[in-house]
Amino acid sequence: MKKDRNFDDIAHKFARNIYGSAKGDIRQAVVWQDLENLLARAPHSPLTVLDAGGGIGQMSLELAKRGHHIILCDLSEEMLKLARQEVEKEGLLPQYQFLHCGIQDLSDTLTTKVDMVMFHAVMEWLNDPFEGLTQVLQCLKPGGLVSVMFYNHTGLLFKNLICGNLTHVEQGMPHRKRFKLQPQKGLVPDEVYAHLQHATVEIWGKTGVRTFHDYMQTERLGEFTEAQLIAMEQTLCRQEPFLSLGRYIHVWGQLAPTQCNE
Ligand SMILES: C[S@@+](CC[C@H](N)C(=O)[O-])C[C@H]1O[C@@H](n2cnc3c(N)ncnc32)[C@H](O)[C@@H]1O
Repeated sequence: MKKDRNFDDIAHKFARNIYGSAKGDIRQAVVWQDLENLLARAPHSPLTVLDAGGGIGQMSLELAKRGHHIILCDLSEEMLKLARQEVEKEGLLPQYQFLHCGIQDLSDTLTTKVDMVMFHAVMEWLNDPFEGLTQVLQCLKPGGLVSVMFYNHTGLLFKNLICGNLTHVEQGMPHRKRFKLQPQKGLVPDEVYAHLQHATVEIWGKTGVRTFHDYMQTERLGEFTEAQLIAMEQTLCRQEPFLSLGRYIHVWGQLAPTQCNE
């Protein structure tokens, strides 16, 4: 059976790729707007937030800076090591619990349910993404907040089409090993939304992450600054057709308050 993708061997490459790159900055900028909206609706503060498959925990670190408590879980010891270094630099270790385990083991490891779950860019690395999503949602209290970001099948398809990779598309876009940081498969957005709704998550918002940046010509034709790029992504990311073309989609909301999944 295929296993989930532990990032031990690519942890440093991953960190270099997202810190300080336009890709990482756009993601941070658009998802952060959503998280601010989500937190504005939180029933109390500080929250206990589970960052499941949290890697180096860049986004949850921002939550920690605002006083929230973070449980960072990952299969990769290397990713957790890098995360711990960043947290230590910020002097926020007392707000953290690091769990070196798979999301599949969380129900045995966590002693109480959490107020919020973040599950960002993990589903596409799992052997069974929807089972993984279910397991993460089971860690949440009734009425808890949900933030899920997944690699978008439509974005992957569109990217291949505009690159002229039609044979690859006809073959069903099989995973290409040489692109180590590229996920094995994209998730079909409607399937993710349906799964969340079936699990009684009320969806409050959806956002495309990198809706046009990755489709721009590599040879720069127009004139723009990185600030303009980020502002334009922020303007377009919640409206169609851009949302559905995002290389990732961030979907967020709330688990039904009455649900009892003890
Ligand atoms: C693309 S990274 C995303 C990291 C972080 N969530 C982010 O958004 O930057 C995917 C992470 O999922 C972790 N992972 C993969 N399978 C896992 C599993 N079954 N349980 C926990 N973590 C897992 C990998 O080790 C890696 O750190």
